[in-house]
Parts: sequence; C-alpha cells; structure tokens
Amino acid sequence: MPRLVSGVHLTGWGAYAPSQILTNADLERMVETNDEWIVSRTGIRERRIAGPDETTASMAAVAGLRAIATAGLQPDDIDLILVGTLTPDFPMPSTAALVKGAIGNKHAAAMDLAAACSGFVFGYATAHAYVASGMAKHVLVIGAETLSRCTDFTDRGTCILFGDGAGAAVLSASDEPGGTLGIEMTTDPSGAYLIWLPAGGSSRPASDATLGAREHYMKMKGTETYKMAVRTLGSTSQAALKKAGLGLDDIDLVIPHQANVRIIEGLAKSLDFPMDKVFVNVGSYGNTSAASVPLALNEAVAAGRVKKGDRLLLVAFGSGLTSGAIALEWTADPANAARAANIGPGDVSIQPGYLEPINPFPPALEWLLK
Ligand code: UT7
Repeated sequence: MPRLVSGVHLTGWGAYAPSQILTNADLERMVETNDEWIVSRTGIRERRIAGPDETTASMAAVAGLRAIATAGLQPDDIDLILVGTLTPDFPMPSTAALVKGAIGNKHAAAMDLAAACSGFVFGYATAHAYVASGMAKHVLVIGAETLSRCTDFTDRGTCILFGDGAGAAVLSASDEPGGTLGIEMTTDPSGAYLIWLPAGGSSRPASDATLGAREHYMKMKGTETYKMAVRTLGSTSQAALKKAGLGLDDIDLVIPHQANVRIIEGLAKSLDFPMDKVFVNVGSYGNTSAASVPLALNEAVAAGRVKKGDRLLLVAFGSGLTSGAIALEWTADPANAARAANIGPGDVSIQPGYLEPINPFPPALEWLLK
C-alpha cells in the first residue's frame, strides 16, 4: 500500500439530531423489554426519532450547512457532496442530490455511498482521495440516517438499538502539516447477511409477501455481529495506525462507531487502550449507523475533548461487513463551531410537497406525535 498523500484536512464539522426522544421506558410499553436489560447490554438510554417533516436529506442538509459554516466556507465552495446512508429518501434521486439543492450549492457533484454504519468513514476516505488527487478542493462528507423508518418495533432484538440523526465534515486541501495521516477500509462479504434489510431491492422487490413477512425492516444476528464488530474494529484500527506510522500511544482520542457500549469497551480492551480516551455517546443516541461517528465527533469537539494538534482515530463497522478507520491530526480551531451556532432546519430548503403521500410516520411511533 503506498503512503498516503497528505495535505487533506478536516476543516469543518456539524451535526443535527431530531428533537423527539424515544426512551427505554417508551420501549418498555412497546415490546417485552426493560430499562435495566437495555442499559446493561447496550449502554443505550434514549435515541432521537426524526419528525414527520424530517427525512435523511433534510437532516443531512442541516448537518452539512453547519459543517460548511464551521469551515468558514459558503455552500458554493464545495466541489463534491458525499452522503453515506442506508436510509436514503429514495433509491433515486440520491440523497446527496437533494442535499445539494437544499443547501443551495450550484456546481458540486453529488452522490450517495452505501457502506452502512461505515458510510461516513468510507465517505471520508473517498473525500480524501478526491482532495489528495486534486479533483476537488473542498468535499462535504455526511453520514445521515432515518433508521426509525426501517426498524421493526415488534422485534425487541433490534428496536432498542437504533436512532436517527446526521453528522458532517468538510475536507479541504491545505499545505499545513497534519490532517489525514492513515486510512484503512475493509469489506468482508462472508458476514453480509449478519445484519441486512432483505426486501425492497432487485433481489426481493416489494410485494404483499415481502410486506407480510416484515422484510422491509432491518434483521440482525446480534451475538455474531457483536463478536465480528469487536474483532474487526480492533484490526482496522491497528491497520490505519500502521499506515499512519503511529502507535496507539500517539492517539489522544478514539471516536468509534456507537453501536453498543460493550462493543466499545471490548475494542478498548482488545487494544489495551484506556476508556477515558475513547469517546462514548451511544447512551443518548443509540446506533445511528453512518451518522454515529460524525455525531460523536461533533459532541467530542463541543465537549472540549479535541484540541489543535490532537491525534484522533475514527473507526467504524457495519453491514457488508464493512469497516474503516481514519487516523488524523486535528488542525482546526474548535472555537470555529460558533460560526454554525445560528443554523437550523429553517435554513435548508428541501423541495416541499413530496413528503405527504409517501412518508407516513412509522405507525408504531405515531403516539410520539401526540
Ligand atoms: O452497527 C453495527 C451492527 N449492530 C451491532 O453492533 C449490534 C451487535 N449486537 C449487540 O449489540 C447485542 O448482540 C445485542 C444488544 C443486540 C443483544 O445482546 P446479547 O448479549 O447478544 O443478547 P442475546 O441476543 O444473546 O440475548 C440474550 C437474551 C435472550 O433471551 P434467552 O434466549 O437467553 O432467554 C434474548 O431473547 O436476552 C433476550 N433479549 C432481550 N431481553 C430483554 C433480546 N433482546 C432483548 C430485549 N429485552 N430488548
């Protein structure tokens, strides 16, 4: 593997989490579960649920606009928009195309990236390649999900885990030292069906039979996925560090995919890395798939856990089975987050009109609206 071309920096960051909260107590009323079981097995206490007027694109656009502002850029400075998601608004057009329209960018190329929970990290790696090659100067990378729309709220093995949200970063060319130092990406199809969404694609197009069999919801073999996650997150982290020429002692903060606090603790243990240098926010959001790493990154910066010169390791794992890790030196001023303080859902313009007939709120969650 050739050494990474440097000069690619994370210059902007932003996130958006919907305001509705689904707690463990709420889930206790929906399936046979309890707060004690959920907290002890997963660390999750609550998750966010997108509102009836929100979609993956609308949340992605707010996170993206915040990242652009933090970078000190205008939407039109962005040359490429990448959205990692497994819950696009539609199979086509891409969610990235909707985001481009919503943020008012006129000239960027825009495309989605399907790598499930590794979507943001794979998007970061792709953005890095575009910037390093000179094909783009500024790339907007977003991880965004509306998992509540494909979660089976009658399946206690999965419905306790997932939540909605979006996170974004801008990668930019710069001659400064630091920035991206090492990248690893792996895909292991031997575990492709450990976590999957069976119907709605070309293999099982929507039919009465697929609807009746609840095949439009995520399915997961939890215990097998768990074991693969701990193993793969560790090996991917080590590989990215090796490519960066770094050791774990050089890392100030690990920001892992937030699937389950026990998976994160298992990762830290396998690496012999202290948990106080691992960022965890799964308790407040659950597993938000591609949104999880950038949401955690945003909270880590906001919490003062990231300073100029810090070396971070971002690492993710997801369906595919995909896994990716990024070692980077943080070069931005965390105070730049203030530039995005006033940006909210009212600042993006998703084309109105298409939501009403085709986007019913998940029936199992309608009570949340009352
Ligand atoms: O983004 C990456 C993809 N996803 C993941 O990373 C998730 C990976 N997997 C996990 O996080 C864990 O496997 C789970 C949290 C999903 C499950 O934890 P576990 O320790 O592997 O439990 P289990 O599936 O082995 O189930 C243990 C018991 C079972 O009962 P029996 O058969 O021992 O009587 C389950 O039926 O717990 C039961 N159970 C529940 N009980 C209360 C399963 N789900 C629940 C629940 N509430 N929600």
